Amino acid sequence: MNLNRRKLISWFGLGWLATLLPSSLGGCSVAAPNAATSESATAAPSGGFKVIGTVAQLNTNGSLLSGDKLIAVVRDPQDAKKVIAVNPTCTHNGCTVQWKEASSEYVCPCHDARFSASGDVKGGPTSEPLPKYTAKIEKGQVLVSSQLKN
Ligand code: FES
Repeated sequence: MNLNRRKLISWFGLGWLATLLPSSLGGCSVAAPNAATSESATAAPSGGFKVIGTVAQLNTNGSLLSGDKLIAVVRDPQDAKKVIAVNPTCTHNGCTVQWKEASSEYVCPCHDARFSASGDVKGGPTSEPLPKYTAKIEKGQVLVSSQLKN
């Protein structure tokens, strides 16, 4: 397990703890059964997904980058209704790659490695693709799973 994977697991772990705590406390309170069900369904994404940003932010910026710089999300160039998430840590020497909207690719500022939106190597000194995560749009939010995608 490398350092970036540890950071990511730690990051998701803390996020999930913060997400679960209010719902656990809410489970101890008395509320009307139907009202509690509908409110909790919109409170947090399910299935191990974490909110990275909003669709509005993605549309404005062209890409989303998590605060710890371990997840980057862009629209799928093949299908603008879908999103693609990768770990933007360059597989050559660890710099953070940057999304270039004009050429629809990630470019590393250190030694010019280039990667497709899905993390495949397009050029430069590395042959290893960027790790990819499952991502989706739901209720105006961009969600990413902690599970690496093959
Ligand atoms: S660190 Fe990205 S190309 Fe060298």
